[in-house]
Amino acid sequence: MNHLYPIKTKVSKHQREQVLNQRASVIWFTGLSGSGKSTLAVQLEAQLHALGFKTYLLDGDNIRTGLNKDLTFTDEGRVENIRRIGEVSKLMTDAGIIVLSAFISPFNADRDQVRDIVGVENYIEIFVDAPLEVCEQRDVKGLYKKARAGEVKNFTGIDSPYETPVHPDLTVPTGEWSVEESIGKLMAFILPRVKLR
Ligand code: PPS
Repeated sequence: MNHLYPIKTKVSKHQREQVLNQRASVIWFTGLSGSGKSTLAVQLEAQLHALGFKTYLLDGDNIRTGLNKDLTFTDEGRVENIRRIGEVSKLMTDAGIIVLSAFISPFNADRDQVRDIVGVENYIEIFVDAPLEVCEQRDVKGLYKKARAGEVKNFTGIDSPYETPVHPDLTVPTGEWSVEESIGKLMAFILPRVKLR
């Protein structure tokens, strides 16, 4: 970008982390609609918060009704959605916060881009792995039924692709594990990574 001169702040990310006594991180949940991303992210945030961590949850439906309400569910819309969330997540980790991001984020290239934007040392990818049949059976929002009827277009898993993560840091098979079990595994995995000492 020409003629732009980003300033350098006097307070570093490291100093902000010291004040907050935590390791800033992006906990990135990816998976099909209805796989359990939001359920796990909401509960994990509540448990981290209860332990005194400073957290913030970014979730698909919330962001798509605000910051990203101009974007559609075409491939291009999803790519821009995830790019912006990556940038927002980076700002928040610079502020020292533990960010939980729950988005379908169907494309490997976009998740890799987020990893690059926020920095590999700050990025923890959680694959919320439920088979399409299980998600469709749950159909909590009734969207699979609508997608099958052609009333919702470009629906992930039906007429829009989902690329299975290549190297997630943790896979949570929500078709097999209960919510309690999944949260237990997540806490055991995340806690040592967000504790400063
Ligand atoms: S993406 O692919 O990452 O840009 O999607 P995301 O921002 O996470 O938004 C997913 C939620 O939007 C609702 N919704 C749809 N999902 C998939 N495909 C289509 N066409 C669609 N239209 C609306 C749906 O509630 C998704 O929420 P989750 O929590 O994933 O079920």
